[in-house]
Amino acid sequence: MCIKNSTVYLAPLEGLADAPMRRVLCAHGGYDLCYSEFIRVTDLKVVKKTFIREVPELLNDGKTLDGTPIRVQLLGDNPKTLAASAKTAYDLGAKSIDLNFGCPSRFVHHSGAMLLKEPELLTSIVLAVRDALPDDCLLSCKVRLGFLDASESFDIIKAVAQEGVKEICVHARTRKGLYRQEALNWEAIKPLHEYKGSAVLIANGNINSLAEALLCEKVTLCHNFMCGRGGFATPNLGHCIKEGAPPYSYAKLLQTCREVLLTFKDTPRSDKIVMDRTKQFLGYAKMNRNDVQDFFRRFCQSSDPEDGLRLLDAEITRSHNNESL
Ligand SMILES: Cc1cc2nc3c(=O)[nH]c(=O)nc-3n(C[C@H](O)[C@H](O)[C@H](O)COP(=O)(O)O)c2cc1C
Repeated sequence: MCIKNSTVYLAPLEGLADAPMRRVLCAHGGYDLCYSEFIRVTDLKVVKKTFIREVPELLNDGKTLDGTPIRVQLLGDNPKTLAASAKTAYDLGAKSIDLNFGCPSRFVHHSGAMLLKEPELLTSIVLAVRDALPDDCLLSCKVRLGFLDASESFDIIKAVAQEGVKEICVHARTRKGLYRQEALNWEAIKPLHEYKGSAVLIANGNINSLAEALLCEKVTLCHNFMCGRGGFATPNLGHCIKEGAPPYSYAKLLQTCREVLLTFKDTPRSDKIVMDRTKQFLGYAKMNRNDVQDFFRRFCQSSDPEDGLRLLDAEITRSHNNESL
């Protein structure tokens, strides 16, 4: 069983899926596309240096090392500077641009999901950015179902489904629902197909396995999915959904974790950050699988990358032995 001819995107995850993490997640994931973390656009346009720092994949033809294309995501409320920034990203090699209208953080002020209350502003931003970009640059938007209530979703989709917007990703929660499990509302996506114009709708929110993707497809009528946190527990999630690959075993998950550690160690980061980011990977992995809990606790006591590698190697050997019993 699998979902043939679907696409699976790796979600933008600020503070989590930066370039080194994307490199590992994409190498295993089988994703059709990944996103940059959101890049904040103020009343000043983003300069080239910032794009190259945040999206070094732009220097590699807009792809991660394994060849997964990356989409640059912008967040802001100023149509002019968003448009100018999008054009700068395009000039640097971005093949597609996404507008973030879903971030629920209070720290983004008048941006992200805050703008869902203002459909006219959403339209102004979309039109300005579309206008600034050449036709060969794909434009997409990422939204939530509403600010307070899913009944707002129709106006939101109509506002962003302008000519030239090729994809709209809907995170099936409102801003009020934040990331709460009980706030997930795949059902609310289905009626939006009628309002999306020529854009493709992409379903997002807790699609962490093939079974969930199948159910989500049935409920939303979307054949394209975006997966975020589930990609840590199941690093080969795209392969699972599109090809029916078995989810990674515990040993394979730990091997992926080892790659995370080595990849961060290869960057000019302190030992503490290398270990913090590896713990972060395991921390997200343990949210969706119980077998990681014990090792996570032991690993968290270590603060030295060499020690961390020793712990990982010993646990990988132990789990291989267990699997071959
Ligand atoms: C730590 C974290 C950071 C996120 N950063 C972004 C971001 O930069 N841009 C964005 O559009 N969404 C962001 N999101 C939302 C995710 O892209 C996604 O919509 C959400 O996690 C639901 O999908 P999931 O259940 O597959 O993780 C973030 C979510 C989390 C948990």
